[in-house]
Formats: sequence, C-alpha cells, structure tokens
Amino acid sequence: MSMSEQAPQTAPKAIAKDTMMLDREKYIAFLKDSLKGKESMVADSVFKNIKSLKGKSVDQVLSIMNNWGHALGVTCKFCHEVNNWASEKSRNHLRTREMIVMNDRLNRDLLSQMKGFRQPVTMGCISCHNEMKEPPHDGPRPQGPRQRPEGGPKPPEGAKN
Ligand code: HEC
Ligand code: HEC
Repeated sequence: MSMSEQAPQTAPKAIAKDTMMLDREKYIAFLKDSLKGKESMVADSVFKNIKSLKGKSVDQVLSIMNNWGHALGVTCKFCHEVNNWASEKSRNHLRTREMIVMNDRLNRDLLSQMKGFRQPVTMGCISCHNEMKEPPHDGPRPQGPRQRPEGGPKPPEGAKN
C-alpha cells in the first residue's frame, strides 16, 4: 500500500480541543499583558470596535471571548485577524453580533414568557453550538456558499472569509 492510499492520520478529538484551548489562552495572556492596569476599565474606552458588549469591563470581554471560542470549539482566529482585533473582515465576527441579538431575544422575549418552567431559563451559545461551529440542522442541510452578513466592509474580491 502506498502512502497516498493510507487513511489520513487524525488526532483524537480531545487533543484537538485542548490545543484550541491552549491557543486561546495564549492570545488572552498576550492581551492581558499588554492591557495591564486596564482590566476593570470599560471595554468601550480601551478597545476600538465594541458594539455588542458595551459597558462590559476589559476582563469581562476577554472571558466572553474565551467562552465563545469554547462554545464553538474554535480559537480566536475563527472570528478575528489576530494582528488586528478590531477588524470586521471575518464573516464570523459579524455573524456573532447577529447571534447575540438572536440569543438575547430568545431569552428575554420567548423563554422567559414560557409558563411552567422554573425561571430563569436561559440559553447561551453553548446550548446550540455544543462545541461545534455549526449546530446540527433539523432537516436537510442547505447547499452552496454561505452569505456574508450585512453590516461590515466587503472583503476584497476573491477573499476567503
Ligand atoms: C465567535 C467569534 C469570536 C471568537 C471565537 C472570538 N471573538 Fe473576539 N470578538 C468577537 C466580536 C463579535 C467582537 C466585537 C464585540 C462587540 O461588538 O462589542 C470581538 C471583540 C474582541 C476584541 C476587542 C477588539 C476591539 O479593538 O474592539 C478583542 C481584543 C477580542 N475580541 C479578542 C479575542 C480573543 C483573544 C479571542 C480568543 C480567545 C477572541 N476574541 C475570540 C468575536 C469573537
Ligand atoms: C438557538 C441556537 C443558537 C444559539 C443560541 C447560537 N447560535 Fe450561532 N448558529 C446557530 C445556527 C443554526 C447557525 C448556522 C449554522 C449553519 O450555517 O449550518 C449558527 C451559526 C453561527 C456562526 C457562523 C458559523 C459558520 O461556520 O458560518 C457563528 C460565528 C455563531 N453561530 C456564533 C454564535 C455565538 C457566539 C453565539 C452566542 C452568543 C451563538 N452563535 C448562539 C444557532 C445558534
């Protein structure tokens, strides 16, 4: 059997996840270091492009970032250009802002109104994503390329976003 006929070697899942956690922690440690003394400042006054997380502290924003990464099973690069954190070039960065609106409405307008539950009933990214980029679909998975959400600069022609 030649090399090309062999099944590709894939790392066990647990190790892949752990690697992602370490990668996220690396970026967070780097940012914390450069933001020393500003941990409890309002994030809007320290970062350049805070829209959805207005009013949170720098520390809170960084731990939310880690939680999002964990919930989707990804590292920071899934949503960011890591040499330009404020950039909206990533489709997933914009999509996340839409997800926050959806998630807030789900909790505030729908779940909290359901009779017969012990309140509060809240869902977060993890409830649907469960460490996956794409939660399982109910029904057939749509085909074709995914659209870029509205609200950000268009990526350059031919860019993978
Ligand atoms: C699922 C997508 C997603 C992941 C994963 C993610 N981020 Fe974010 N990040 C965002 C979004 C969206 C914003 C903008 C939040 C807002 O509008 O208030 C943001 C904002 C930021 C900002 C502020 C940038 C600025 O100047 O305004 C920093 C710094 C940041 N993230 C760091 C990280 C780090 C470090 C990680 C990895 C541990 C990470 N992010 C993982 C989506 C993500
Ligand atoms: C009620 C369920 C639900 C919740 C809650 C939810 N999502 Fe999603 N998310 C989805 C679905 C469904 C998709 C579309 C997946 C697909 O295209 O197959 C998606 C897609 C995404 C994508 C795009 C992924 C891609 O590969 O295109 C990002 C980024 C994302 N969600 C981030 C988040 C974040 C961050 C949160 C929490 C603030 C969140 N989501 C909460 C259901 C949810």
